[in-house]
Amino acid sequence: MATLADQPVLELKGGETRLDPMIRNDPFPFYRALRRQDPVYYDPGLDLYLVTRYQDAITVLHDDATFSLEHGYQDRYGNGFIDEFAAIMERDGGGFIRDLAIDPPAHTRLRRLTEKAFTAHRVKDLEPRIRQIVVELVERMAERGYGDGIADIGGPLTARIICEQLGFDWSEVGTEKVAVWTKAVLDQIGRMQTREDMLENARVMCELQNYIIRYIDAREAEPREDMISDLVHARLDDGANPTLSREEKIATVRGFLIAGNDTTATAIANLLLVLATNPGLADELAPQADNERVMMRFVEEVLRLQPPVHGLFRTAMKDTVLGGTPIPAMAQLCVLYASANDDDAKFPDPRRLDIERPNVGASLTFGSGIHKCVGLSLARMEIKVAAQEILRRLKDITLAVPQDQLTYQPTLASQTLERLPLTFARR
Ligand code: HEM
Repeated sequence: MATLADQPVLELKGGETRLDPMIRNDPFPFYRALRRQDPVYYDPGLDLYLVTRYQDAITVLHDDATFSLEHGYQDRYGNGFIDEFAAIMERDGGGFIRDLAIDPPAHTRLRRLTEKAFTAHRVKDLEPRIRQIVVELVERMAERGYGDGIADIGGPLTARIICEQLGFDWSEVGTEKVAVWTKAVLDQIGRMQTREDMLENARVMCELQNYIIRYIDAREAEPREDMISDLVHARLDDGANPTLSREEKIATVRGFLIAGNDTTATAIANLLLVLATNPGLADELAPQADNERVMMRFVEEVLRLQPPVHGLFRTAMKDTVLGGTPIPAMAQLCVLYASANDDDAKFPDPRRLDIERPNVGASLTFGSGIHKCVGLSLARMEIKVAAQEILRRLKDITLAVPQDQLTYQPTLASQTLERLPLTFARR
């Protein structure tokens, strides 16, 4: 794997933006330059501050009174058409409902209720089913000798697992529909959609919410062994408001479907990318596929090195100073988890894959603080099982296009490969 010393040294001239397509496809040299020269950088193209150092990221993520998630995220819905969007959702989609992206104290109650769908036993019990699906997908690819890391493994695996876990009937849903639903929701909070896009995305979101409502009604009447049943019947032992409202149920199911899908698919594709671009690594790791410790560390280190989510947003609720930079009240910040993971003050020689790194688990890939990913145990399990079965079944994993031709979806928050064409042989 390339190390820091190999990276081009980027001199900032002023006015650079994370939106620049050159930076978008390989943002790490940009992050590195910012950490050294301007660690809390005002990005003029985005009109927000990029937080690039590990320690500053921790400060923001652990001070939710000064740095609000609710304002950084909810205000973006509809990209300038929030009222029209909300009206459509109220009329046709069961409501305009926000999810866990809220501040305490409302967040504290909602988070405790939603955690009830991620009990340790539920995730552990899932392992054989995840393995069955992974083996099916990897075997299908192994037969052909070529395939796409996203379309053939990451996408179908994660969509199917989350749908099955929620309790959806997979034969009614399928990978394609999940992709369309996911895009519609993410575009609403992305910053790029036009009014026409907003109308189409609102239509698709109504379809998704109506589908969810059908399941909520069914599981309220008759619970089963699935996450929707856990959520609709979740109850806290304390507090005045111990169960989820109907709108919160819809929002939580929608949130799980969306948050757990592209992210985990991207992580699996990134793992394949790391194997394809590090000659000898797959051969070295394949004999260790049964070693849980080695596999978990490998997965953690890939997640640190290539995190699917590069950055998410907060809003400063008052004038403050971060890393020496004054931040005015109501300014937006993007906490760059990917840059924090690459900070050599925390992770020496950060572009090097090192599964024996003592602090491999300290990465910010799943965030930190009160909003730290609620689905991380499920995600880790899916990626670990994918790693094991890929290593057991495939060898000579090679990129089928030059690495500099790989392209990423035009979103700011996530670093999502559009495709990952690979060739390989059966091991
Ligand atoms: C590799 C896969 C994943 C990555 C990289 C990831 C990343 C993240 C990050 C960075 C956050 C923090 C958000 C913030 O600070 O603003 C987060 C929160 C969240 N994630 Fe994940 N996630 C993954 C998989 C999943 C899965 C599988 C699920 C559910 C099935 C899920 C559900 C959520 C939810 C509901 C939140 C909001 C938590 C809160 O605000 O309290 N994620 N995730």
